[in-house]
Amino acid sequence: MLERFKMEERMKRGNFFMRNVVEVIKQRRSVRSYDSKLVDEPLKEQILNYANAIVNPFNIPVTFQYLDAKRDGLTCPVVVGTDLYVGGKIKKGKDACVAFGYTFEQFILYVHSLGLGSVWLGGTMNRSAYEKAMHLKADEMMPCATPIGYIASKMSVRETMMRKAVKANERLPFEELFYDGSFDTSLSKAKANTLLEPLEMVRLAPSAVNKQPWRVLVQDHQVHFYLKRSKGFGHEGSLDMQMIDLGIALCHFELTAKAKGLNVSFIQQAPGITVSDMEYIGSYIVKA
Ligand SMILES: Cc1cc2nc3c(=O)[nH]c(=O)nc-3n(C[C@H](O)[C@H](O)[C@H](O)COP(=O)(O)O)c2cc1C
Repeated sequence: MLERFKMEERMKRGNFFMRNVVEVIKQRRSVRSYDSKLVDEPLKEQILNYANAIVNPFNIPVTFQYLDAKRDGLTCPVVVGTDLYVGGKIKKGKDACVAFGYTFEQFILYVHSLGLGSVWLGGTMNRSAYEKAMHLKADEMMPCATPIGYIASKMSVRETMMRKAVKANERLPFEELFYDGSFDTSLSKAKANTLLEPLEMVRLAPSAVNKQPWRVLVQDHQVHFYLKRSKGFGHEGSLDMQMIDLGIALCHFELTAKAKGLNVSFIQQAPGITVSDMEYIGSYIVKA
């Protein structure tokens, strides 16, 4: 009986988050300063259950796990005020980084909808300690992790400086990210119509070093996602931060479109357009 009640509660909270995803996306920011208050065990369990049930468009499972900075010897010079971390692992292979980006971002948004903070970590950490604590198999990787905790009322000086360095409050203009019919013509907000809000939410997405490598081409009822790689951002083995960014963009688009009642489905079928400096990732078909 209690189990059933708990399950229903969890579903209700999950549904609430999905309906209000636009507000959550608008309010989310990277949180690197925490106030030391512990997250209690039932809430930790609720978060982990939600996370491990997320499905991405590639159907590649991501497994989440709690880590403890003291127990596992984790260090992250930009984070203060929490020892609680969560890592995610996924099987290496085609689309693994994009799939990871989608799933981990849905988890990040869920965490924020509960009033907690988190920040994507892919670089500023002793990666090998995190990977060891995740007990990776030879065919698995842990692309990123995040601290979790209650948000401090004041940002640390280091966090303030870091936000300034990457211009964390800024995003590229709408017209530079979204295109209409071909990459020669920018998409105007007026023409975006019902896609305006899903695209605005893509624009607010977090990305590694705030590089925003997502470019989107709208053609009739199809929304094609491309990666425009930033200089110096290749991949190290299977790990590709900008592919993760693309998964985050897909997540923001799909969750917002669905919250707005649009019927969208994901496919990978490149339109007959070749652009030398961009890589095709996937498309959403918007049904009337
Ligand atoms: C894939 C990925 C990796 C990131 N790695 C780090 C990191 O190692 N350290 C860090 O402090 N922030 C990291 N970030 C956070 C970005 O710097 C941040 O999302 C961006 O500056 C925008 O700021 P906002 O999240 O507050 O909107 C990462 C973000 C993403 C998406």
